[in-house]
Amino acid sequence: MTIQLETNRIILREFMLNDLEEFHTLETNEDVLKYLTNYPKRTLEESKEILCQVIEQYRNFKTGRLAMFDKATQGFVGWCGIKFNTHKRHIYENFYDLGYRIHPNYWGNGLATEASIACLSYGLNELEITKINAIVNIHNTQSVKVISKVGFSYKESFLEDETEKNWYEVVRK
Ligand SMILES: CC(C)(COP(=O)(O)OP(=O)(O)OC[C@H]1O[C@@H](n2cnc3c(N)ncnc32)[C@H](O)[C@@H]1OP(=O)(O)O)[C@@H](O)C(=O)NCCC(=O)NCCS
Repeated sequence: MTIQLETNRIILREFMLNDLEEFHTLETNEDVLKYLTNYPKRTLEESKEILCQVIEQYRNFKTGRLAMFDKATQGFVGWCGIKFNTHKRHIYENFYDLGYRIHPNYWGNGLATEASIACLSYGLNELEITKINAIVNIHNTQSVKVISKVGFSYKESFLEDETEKNWYEVVRK
């Protein structure tokens, strides 16, 4: 069974290796990377390695970052999904986090919000994950707005790569 979610306007599905070109576009777009501190611009080969790790998550954790497509045009919108994070961030490790990246052509249309709601519902209701976190650079106003709209509670702020970030959580009821 592969993961596929659908909302009014988008399809979210598992990434495949032949999505590399689209995936790489987001890995190297200056506007997309603006608030992601210490994020190197990757070569195509490096993006491929990251994409392989994304794909591995589906088998290991039944979740991961999902490719987003516009239902009307089939255009690649970006990605959104819940990842199981095994490395330490702030004072936590081994936690689920919601993440998203949307191609700038699609910004400001509510698509990150729509996708996040679908991914959270999948994680909390279908996988029955008890807690999902999100980490956002405090200067990333668009992302702070998305997180606040989809049900996360602010927990605390912390410093990472000399940047102030907010730590959020949503808990299964
Ligand atoms: C953050 C991101 C995913 C948002 O995607 P999106 O599809 O445009 O998000 P939405 O349209 O659902 O919501 C964006 C919100 O920011 C607002 N917004 C848009 N541009 C803005 C700006 N320049 N300043 C402040 N708010 C802005 C929108 O009005 C909307 O809020 P509203 O619904 O209250 O009006 C997208 O900007 C992105 O991919 N950024 C680069 C990657 C990134 O930062 N990922 C998150 C890491 S934590």
